[in-house]
Amino acid sequence: MHFIDSIAEAVGNTPLLKLSRINIPRGHNIFAKCEFLNPGGSVKDRIGFHMVECAEREGKLTKGQLIVEATGGNTGIGLAMAANLKGYKLLCVMTEKVGKKKVGLMRILGAETLVVPGGKTIDDDEHYINQAKRIAKERDGWFAGQFENSHNSEAHYQTTGPELWEQTGGKIDVLVAGIGTGGTICGAGKYLKERNPEIKLVLADPKGSLLGGWQEKKENPPGPYLVEGIGGDFIPKIVDLSMIDKSIEITDQRAIELTHEIARKESLFVGGSSGCIVAAAIQYCAESTKKGLNVVAILPSTGHLYTDTVFDQQWLKARNLAYE
Ligand SMILES: Cc1ncc(COP(=O)(O)O)c(C=O)c1O
Repeated sequence: MHFIDSIAEAVGNTPLLKLSRINIPRGHNIFAKCEFLNPGGSVKDRIGFHMVECAEREGKLTKGQLIVEATGGNTGIGLAMAANLKGYKLLCVMTEKVGKKKVGLMRILGAETLVVPGGKTIDDDEHYINQAKRIAKERDGWFAGQFENSHNSEAHYQTTGPELWEQTGGKIDVLVAGIGTGGTICGAGKYLKERNPEIKLVLADPKGSLLGGWQEKKENPPGPYLVEGIGGDFIPKIVDLSMIDKSIEITDQRAIELTHEIARKESLFVGGSSGCIVAAAIQYCAESTKKGLNVVAILPSTGHLYTDTVFDQQWLKARNLAYE
């Protein structure tokens, strides 16, 4: 018999798929790292389990204790799975930007959820991360802190990075990812650059985010954007922007267009951040003077979490983004 004892064992080791049905700039290869196939539907399952296991090892968590996290939703789902299996309670704090499907899934998995107003700056006590920290203190909980917890990027250094190196036989030239916390790009990127310093890290940043071009943009904050999970208006502590070789800005329109296109042509049902990241990978190849690049694009989350947002025609129409 072949079976696993815990769904935790199904996290990671996701397939690497060569994209060939959408238009890829001639002579280049774009490979999709299918993180949406993790059991909780996103790349964040990796850090949900790893951050909890490390906190246990470091004596920061005692059985039955409350875990508190500030999340765009996917980390909440990963943490909820880990909390259930390991006997902890979980409270997820998020802004109203997070789609109802994601909030519902956290609740199905047994997490308590608190949705607070968005649009606050990081130095405001009412910013959702500061609210989560405060509640953790008040309720004697452990604040998982994905934006500052080095075990987040460590999870990717230990798993995502080695998987990509192995799956590409070391022939990877470029890794394209977004930054939510930066765990994926900095953790996997560190591993890959240690193997081959010539590997380039490319940030796919939604237009409206401050992360790409931080120096120029921080004085003049751009407007909001719709893609969930990536981009932001502050640099998370675990991010080392000096590792990023290039940043490519992608509009909501382009990200959503490509999200639908990869669903219809490649049969990959993924979220808006995947569309944004593949769009950046295509643009990078199109602008490159090199030939025959092997580019890996991270596809962070499943489309099931966005059927009420980027896959809902009314939601799109209300935002002038209708897609036929
Ligand atoms: C949908 C989605 N895509 C991408 C990311 C980015 O991953 P990371 O936090 O590792 O930078 C996140 C993280 O919040 C996410 O939720």
